Amino acid sequence: MIRANENYRKLKASYLFSDIARRVDRFQKEHPDIRVIRLGIGDVTRALPPAVVTAFHKGVDDMAEDATFRGYGPEQGYLFLREKIAAHDFQARGADIAADEIFVSDGAKCDTGNFQELFAKDIRIAIPDPVYPVYLDTNVMAGRTGKFVEGRYENIVYLDCVKENRFLPRLPETPVDLIYLCFPNNPTGTCATKKELTQWVAYARQNKALILFDAAYESFIRDDALPRTIYEIEGAREVAVEFRSFSKTAGFTGTRCGFTVVPKECRVFLSNGESASLHGLWNRRQSTKFNGVSYPVQKAAEAVYTSEGQAQIRELVAGYLENADIIRKTMADLGFDHVGGDNSPYIWVDGQGRDSWEFFDLLLHNAGVVCTPGGGFGRCGNPYIRISAFNSRSNVMEAMDRLKEALK
Ligand code: MLT
Repeated sequence: MIRANENYRKLKASYLFSDIARRVDRFQKEHPDIRVIRLGIGDVTRALPPAVVTAFHKGVDDMAEDATFRGYGPEQGYLFLREKIAAHDFQARGADIAADEIFVSDGAKCDTGNFQELFAKDIRIAIPDPVYPVYLDTNVMAGRTGKFVEGRYENIVYLDCVKENRFLPRLPETPVDLIYLCFPNNPTGTCATKKELTQWVAYARQNKALILFDAAYESFIRDDALPRTIYEIEGAREVAVEFRSFSKTAGFTGTRCGFTVVPKECRVFLSNGESASLHGLWNRRQSTKFNGVSYPVQKAAEAVYTSEGQAQIRELVAGYLENADIIRKTMADLGFDHVGGDNSPYIWVDGQGRDSWEFFDLLLHNAGVVCTPGGGFGRCGNPYIRISAFNSRSNVMEAMDRLKEALK
């Protein structure tokens, strides 16, 4: 008899964004005359930058000739891409990361979800609340949590991110081994300063813990004083893994490419008191379970680092940040407290005591605008909604006009 992994039964019936998509489809079927504007899931709407498209085509052309054709690539990613990433995203910012510490992948969702496989089942895990659901759900699937009781899983140390702490997680009061952090934050759009990240790195070093640092929204940082990578913090190479993505930076949500940085100094500890290289473990995992990202996609990602590519992605991101400014101004005019949107594509809006799913329904039914209910990101998210700046300027402006009508 084939038995199920019953940890799946502890999960909510469906993944947050699938649930929202279903509700929106149902609404659209019932109201075919309403043009729904989607500011829910953070999915980009603008085309790939021209430099990326040219390189993508060239990559396909290479596959069309025997002389330049590529079969299986390195599971870690082609060196031509990893060298550019190391130089531009890390060394240029004074972060000492080498090409062979970078693992190219099909995106940060998969890597943040898969990375927990490297750890023992009984580790203590700290997860912010609200949080990108992938970190939590993948640990539930792996059997690291107890039951879901009153909006929370047993055996998880939740780090409340609330108005009182400016939505920034505080160091845990009980010792933990694994810490998930995401800056600029999804969903709240807040950012940690160097001083704040320094405290986390010090904590991890003192406790032989590891930080899984999701920096998928790094390219939205406008404030030069904010850290772009955790490796700007001294000592982070020993205790932090960083996840990055071309999805929001360069419009790759449908193209799929990201990468994970695992410094050679990171260690994990064995029950016999010895330690092992985390880089070695992830390399072993990837070479067993992953065959790399397609060659044309890696050529396309490489073009992000050309001077044209850099100018084009700056313009792309700036356009979404201008949308975020328009959303922030509308929320302020309507009298809604909010954070985020200044160094992030997400605006976290206080629903003034409304349940977040009710607020979601109100915006959908009265304005035809889709947001993400904060409660989908955790118990502390409940009185909030997240509005995404990923859409065309005209759609964002129309959505804001509709909200002004619906919420006045
Ligand atoms: C989001 O809306 O939170 C993101 O699009 C999710 C993701 O990147 O997987």
